[in-house]
Amino acid sequence: MEVVALVTLTLFLGGLVALVAFALGKRKEELRGEAEQTSDCASSTAKGPAAKKLKQEKLLRGRKNKSPQHDFSHPLLACSLKGHSGIVTSLDFSSNGKYLASCSDDRTVRIWSTKDFLNRDHKYMRANVELDHATLVCFTPDSRAFITWLSYGDTIRVFKMIKKDDGTMSFKPAAKDFPIKHKGSIINIGMADTGKFLMSAYNDTTINIWNLKGEILASINTNQMTNSYVAVSPCGRFVASCGFTPDVKVWEVCFSKTGEFKEVTRAFELKGHSAGVHAFAFSNDSHKMVTVSKDGTWKLWNTDVEYKKQQDPYLLKTVPCSSSKGSLAALSPDGRVVAISDGCNVALYNASSGELEEQILSIHSFEVTALRFDVTGRFLACSGDKAIRVFHNAPGYRAIIKDMQDMLKKAQNEGMKQRLQQQISDAQKALRAAKLASSVH
Ligand SMILES: *[C@@H]1O[C@H](CO)[C@@H](O)[C@H](O)[C@H]1NC(C)=O
Ligand SMILES: *[C@@H]1O[C@H](CO)[C@@H](O)[C@H](O)[C@H]1NC(C)=O
Ligand SMILES: *[C@@H]1O[C@H](CO)[C@@H](O)[C@H](O)[C@H]1NC(C)=O
Repeated sequence: MEVVALVTLTLFLGGLVALVAFALGKRKEELRGEAEQTSDCASSTAKGPAAKKLKQEKLLRGRKNKSPQHDFSHPLLACSLKGHSGIVTSLDFSSNGKYLASCSDDRTVRIWSTKDFLNRDHKYMRANVELDHATLVCFTPDSRAFITWLSYGDTIRVFKMIKKDDGTMSFKPAAKDFPIKHKGSIINIGMADTGKFLMSAYNDTTINIWNLKGEILASINTNQMTNSYVAVSPCGRFVASCGFTPDVKVWEVCFSKTGEFKEVTRAFELKGHSAGVHAFAFSNDSHKMVTVSKDGTWKLWNTDVEYKKQQDPYLLKTVPCSSSKGSLAALSPDGRVVAISDGCNVALYNASSGELEEQILSIHSFEVTALRFDVTGRFLACSGDKAIRVFHNAPGYRAIIKDMQDMLKKAQNEGMKQRLQQQISDAQKALRAAKLASSVH
């Protein structure tokens, strides 16, 4: 058992060393050809979703083709996914780990192959959004369809992904879009991993819960003055919301044993911030949440509680961070790394010590619109202009090195010990070099 684990980790680390070395090589290449950096983001003072929308509309109207290419390089950059001709507003990884979906006002949704991230070419498949464009995209749990929010249509459109014999895919919109049930500014959509419901949330205090046929099951009033972020938990049981008030509210969407919708009930709240909460994220098992607030901190919570027995979630960590309206949060699948965006910057933290591990500045021309770890936790993807940036999750790698060191202490077999030692020192060397390159920058 232990040997199998060791072999797996060793293989992983071998890959990691190659990967970091690769990132460094590429970095050198990029430095050679580096052009001037332009950043509308750095000079802009306007913040938040409203300002974001305004900026995006301005861009759409006049400067779509004139807007300067934002040149960016960073030692942890794994790749830049280029192809969209408009700002990317939403990203989602499929649960099978194979795809990354992105959408933009260029009227396309693009499906990228995650196994190409470290290749030179990044292939994508393209779904056209006829007579409209998608502002939000999310995969269905079976990774065989995705749902979109239509900008003009103001509703949900579902696309089936149909695999053709030659391995490519075609995309077929469902016969009918969902009916329009609420007039408001959308902030997020989601689908439960159980496949039982969909969610649409607006910047007033409304969350709608739908069945897959496009019928409303329930409408929630969050009573939070305004909603700033809403999401479905990865386990598919909960919907959580945050906004103007300092608490994060979590509801359970309840179904009977036979799968009939029953009700939406209040589950628990995260209480502790002293000002409005910009956003939050779950770990992949829904046992932890991270929240980022206007009070200038992020907080990590243990939400693996039996709320029906009056157990409250508890606070694990509070860490000062820079944040602003529109800030987003991401938590690596294993819950070990926290990512927080502030404008067009992203910071990575060790979730248990709270230490700031990486600060990546001016990633995009505009405010970060989406921030996601992939399902393996190896990559962090973000958007904020035409390009999607994918970074190596270096703090996550460091955590794995730490695990290898712990395994080394327990290792019995001499050959295995030597191999572990070699791998650890190679990985440390590569990470140190990456650090050095970033401080030069
Ligand atoms: C919702 O967003 C719209 C458009 O961005 C904005 O005009 C409106 O003021 C927002 N409403 C609230 C309650 O924040
Ligand atoms: C969560 O991610 C970890 C680390 O990548 C993985 O081992 C685990 O199986 C995932 N759990 C779920 C519920 O997806
Ligand atoms: C994060 O912090 C914890 C607690 O201080 C430490 O044990 C762990 O090694 C750190 N992880 C990394 C990747 O540095």
